[in-house]
Amino acid sequence: MLEDGKGNVAVATAGQVIDARTPVEVEEEARLDEKAVLAAYSRWAPIYDWVFGRVFEAGRRLAVEHINKRQGRLLEVGVGTGLTLPRYLPHLKVTGIDLSPDMLAVAKKRVADQNVSTVEALHEMDATRLGFADGEFDTVAVMYTITVVPHPWAVLEEVARVLKPGGEAILVSHFASDGGLYAAVEKALTPLTKRLGWRPDFPVSRVLGHPRLEHVETRRIGFLRLFRLVRLRRVG
Ligand SMILES: C[S@@+](CC[C@H](N)C(=O)[O-])C[C@H]1O[C@@H](n2cnc3c(N)ncnc32)[C@H](O)[C@@H]1O
Repeated sequence: MLEDGKGNVAVATAGQVIDARTPVEVEEEARLDEKAVLAAYSRWAPIYDWVFGRVFEAGRRLAVEHINKRQGRLLEVGVGTGLTLPRYLPHLKVTGIDLSPDMLAVAKKRVADQNVSTVEALHEMDATRLGFADGEFDTVAVMYTITVVPHPWAVLEEVARVLKPGGEAILVSHFASDGGLYAAVEKALTPLTKRLGWRPDFPVSRVLGHPRLEHVETRRIGFLRLFRLVRLRRVG
């Protein structure tokens, strides 16, 4: 399915309808996907840090290092269990949002246990419907989440909206490999998407080309270069 930028309607090319579902049907599918995400992360929450703490660590470390050099307000979209929260320097004001109450509960406990003073708020919220005003944040971080959400373009729209002009979005994720063995493994894992809670075959091109988010750089991360950090600047 192609998205229309708002993630809620069928599209046509050269007059040909390629997805004939009504907006109501598309909305229904999004709700089902949301249910699948909630179910997946309810299962992952108690063991997430143990399973994904180290696997995703190199990307988190690089992102935090970069974010700590920035100023002002940071929004972490898909903050999960809040593994990065204790690592932000005190000059930042941090807000985290996540769809999963189970993941957020772990994040809230971490913030309370470690008395993390940089965190202003943690909200249960959908990344495609952010409850913030335009231009509220200097930095938006989306780590290992853009390949999870049912409508990634709609998330980018919201990221662009809540960023100040000149602000920066930092995306970290596994994006589809260009070929070879890794691409074959990703393809083989794709039918397990709902169970895994993310899309193994998600191409990086899906986060590039937003008219208000100019590409600054992409860095490959880690020993096997499986993950990437993408920096986008809010323009316009
Ligand atoms: C793979 S985890 C990443 C968590 C954390 N950023 C990290 O680095 O470990 C993906 C997170 O995205 C959240 N998520 C999925 N869909 C979402 C949505 N539509 N809005 C907000 N969060 C969402 C999930 O609940 C989960 O906590």
